Amino acid sequence: MKALILAGGFGTRLRPLSCTRPKILFPIVNKPLLQWTLERLAGNKIKEAILAVNYQSEVFLKRYRISKCGVNITYSRDPLKKPLGTGGPIKRAEKLIGYDAPFLVLNGDIFADVNYTELLNMHEEKNAAATIALHRVEDPSRYGVAELTKQNRIKRFVEKPSREAAPTNLINAGVYVLSPKIFGYIPKGRTVSLEREVFPKLVEEGKLYGYVFDGLWMDVGKLEDYLKINKILLDLLANQSKYKIEEAKVKKTVAFDRGVSIGKESVIGPYAVLGRNVTVGKNVHIKNSVIFPGTVISDFASINGAVIGENVVIGKRVKIDEECVLGDHVKIKDNVSLAQGVSICPAKKVSESVLTPKCII
Ligand code: GTP
Repeated sequence: MKALILAGGFGTRLRPLSCTRPKILFPIVNKPLLQWTLERLAGNKIKEAILAVNYQSEVFLKRYRISKCGVNITYSRDPLKKPLGTGGPIKRAEKLIGYDAPFLVLNGDIFADVNYTELLNMHEEKNAAATIALHRVEDPSRYGVAELTKQNRIKRFVEKPSREAAPTNLINAGVYVLSPKIFGYIPKGRTVSLEREVFPKLVEEGKLYGYVFDGLWMDVGKLEDYLKINKILLDLLANQSKYKIEEAKVKKTVAFDRGVSIGKESVIGPYAVLGRNVTVGKNVHIKNSVIFPGTVISDFASINGAVIGENVVIGKRVKIDEECVLGDHVKIKDNVSLAQGVSICPAKKVSESVLTPKCII
């Protein structure tokens, strides 16, 4: 089975970090999301992947060195300056996918532990046009919720229902097996939403099925969930720091990539991911945060619940609060405080405290 990975969205919800990398390259416990996806494909014996990209995401993807895990990758490009949505790229890749067999479609920004072989088996058994992986969540009110018949046929979707009105707690997990007949349902050359335009038609015709799975699932496209998946995996992988830190206090659970250095009396964790070559000074506190590679954090700084981009320089005694996001190459001068919810665009220099949530451009 071939896999098409959707990787050409704008990732507006993860700005400003998504201005300088597509979501598919966001590190999750120091490994790009795409790498996790390729490993899962290889584990399911899928050897052919097509990346549906736009101009910008292709440039970034080609710059990154990612181990392909034996998966052969080809690119399908969106037209310049014309986003195709979640459905258009499938039509665009029609010839690369071919007409012989069902294929897998993955939203590139989803971490989903799905058994693709079981998903395909159900798809074939039901002779479906499309089979959606459905995940059970506690609060379905943020998602599209599916109602199923006893035979697993999807009867209807309810978009973002209130908790009480939700017919089930089964949500679209962004992982699908589609039959080549799907190409006939997607208009050519324009933005098409698979969820809003194509699936409702298939529901009407009784050709859409749901496969319920219980594994790990997270939509990485939102900051809160991005931090959450890092935490969950930190716990699953237990203590990942292969590198011994002598004079700092390291609380469970943390991950340090190669070249990390930490000064005396710093306290790292609980829940901290430090990318390659991150340099931490003395008496620094970092918890519930992800720090991308190459960043320098000076003495007495404290970071709680934030995501810090690549090659950022954080001055002495800087305080960074929850839900702050710093783009790549940002510089924060000594003694600056950033209140909860501040985001800072790439390469910006900040020399005064920001005390209300806002985006510094
Ligand atoms: P937000 O702006 O934060 O909503 O992100 P997004 O633009 O990526 O949209 P969304 O999360 O709904 O996209 C779901 C998946 O489809 C992601 O993996 C996107 O990369 C992908 N995607 C969305 N729009 C396009 C597009 O126009 N072209 C391609 N090739 N992929 C897309």
